[in-house]
Amino acid sequence: MSVRQIRLLGDPVLREEAEEVVAYGDDLRALVRDMFETMYHEEGIGLAAPQIGIGRRVIVIDLRREDHDDEPMALVNPRLTWTSSETAKQTEGCLSIPGLEEVVERPAKVRVEAHDPEGVRIDLLAEDLLARALQHEIDHLDGVLFFDRVSALKRRMLLKKWKKLEKEAEKEA
Ligand code: NI
Repeated sequence: MSVRQIRLLGDPVLREEAEEVVAYGDDLRALVRDMFETMYHEEGIGLAAPQIGIGRRVIVIDLRREDHDDEPMALVNPRLTWTSSETAKQTEGCLSIPGLEEVVERPAKVRVEAHDPEGVRIDLLAEDLLARALQHEIDHLDGVLFFDRVSALKRRMLLKKWKKLEKEAEKEA
């Protein structure tokens, strides 16, 4: 297993649409293991394959760090099949945009169809933090980032802060 480098905002891979997984097997298992390893190393609760530079539709989620007892999950080709009209607001961050967070409004409940890394079909109904994490990670597979889901004004403020953080990082380097 190995920890992979997280791709940061500005890397084009984060804006591309990831491709469907068509082959199940050792390569996919290795990718999923690396994704878990990288997510734990970065102390995140979710990760999508494009965030490590792999344009495939795979996500991993483990909410135990946030005191949720859902089992860690790896989903292949996940797809939202239903979203509630009821919405919820909560602060989100992203390993690819460290230092930025913002309140994002999303459907409160979702239904997701996917496969596990062995190719077994999964159909799950989620609410609360799991519903949010699933939407955030599935967004990554479509090249969408959390700040695309906030007002244009807030997005401008976030991008300004990001540029400032980048400059500070350059100075330190
Ligand atoms: Ni993210």
